[in-house]
Amino acid sequence: MDPAELDRILGGLPVYSDANLVLGISHKDDAAVYRLPSGELLVQTVDFFTPVVDDPYDYGSIAAANSLSDVYAMNGRPLFALNICCFPRKHPAELWNAVLRGGADKAIEAGIAIVGGHTVDDQEPKYGLVVTGIVPPGKYWTNEGAKPGDVLILTKPLGTGIITTSLKNETVAVTDAADAIAGMKTLNRAAAEVLARYEVHSCTDVTGNGLIGHSWEIAEASRVGIEFHLSAFPFYSAARKLAESGKFPGGTFSNKRYYGGMVEESAGLDENLVWLLFDAQTSGGLLAALPREQADSAVSELRKAGVHAAAVVGEIIEGGKIHISA
Ligand code: CO
Ligand code: CO
Ligand code: CO
Repeated sequence: MDPAELDRILGGLPVYSDANLVLGISHKDDAAVYRLPSGELLVQTVDFFTPVVDDPYDYGSIAAANSLSDVYAMNGRPLFALNICCFPRKHPAELWNAVLRGGADKAIEAGIAIVGGHTVDDQEPKYGLVVTGIVPPGKYWTNEGAKPGDVLILTKPLGTGIITTSLKNETVAVTDAADAIAGMKTLNRAAAEVLARYEVHSCTDVTGNGLIGHSWEIAEASRVGIEFHLSAFPFYSAARKLAESGKFPGGTFSNKRYYGGMVEESAGLDENLVWLLFDAQTSGGLLAALPREQADSAVSELRKAGVHAAAVVGEIIEGGKIHISA
């Protein structure tokens, strides 16, 4: 959904004001935070989407990893989940069983049960999870809190939007997209567990609004600017080559239209790579702001924990703009 369109749709809705709601939709965060009578904080999110890959098991795994990601992006620990299934009746049961198996295996990897769900007949298939988690009071990560002097660490490569679109158009082979498919299936659990040992000032996961869109949410909520270093970004192997074709998904074009005005670029940048910063991601990595002096240790611990793409990709600066330099 075009971010501007979504703003219009959500505009002017009546809102019940609940004293126990710690974090609602005001700062476009990854999940809501709700205080239980015991004082513990509940984290609540939902995500579902149409198939991004052909293999039904991979699709289920990716959708589940993506849904769980919003809980990890809040420094939450998932507790349980519900399936959301919109399945065309015309497809065989085995196919949907494979999708659900992909989701179920991810839930086991996350250490949670899928406790139920709901299925409807739909022309266009969709799958995802409602995920409930918990976060220690005072320790949840939001878009607010990034400070000048912080660096930004990204934990997965970029490029899943153009790669999944190219898979659909058969302009890239599944074998050339293998690293992106594996990356989308990867839980952000290990990344979040390592980052939780550092002083994270702000964190989100990189999904549909692209790297720039989600960065902008941090910049806006934290009232800061961001400087990105294009050469520091990790990209999935097929992404650079596919970016030359310019055949990005619709979401990437609307991200560029909507967030382009918040961005200033140094002269002489590779425009194909700049486009990849706007590319709408599926099950992307965490983007975390933390003090510069902790960055080297955090990156090396992330890599040791199997988060091999982890890299410092930019820094928080004064002002309200995003600047991209070489
Ligand atoms: Co998110
Ligand atoms: Co989400
Ligand atoms: Co029902």
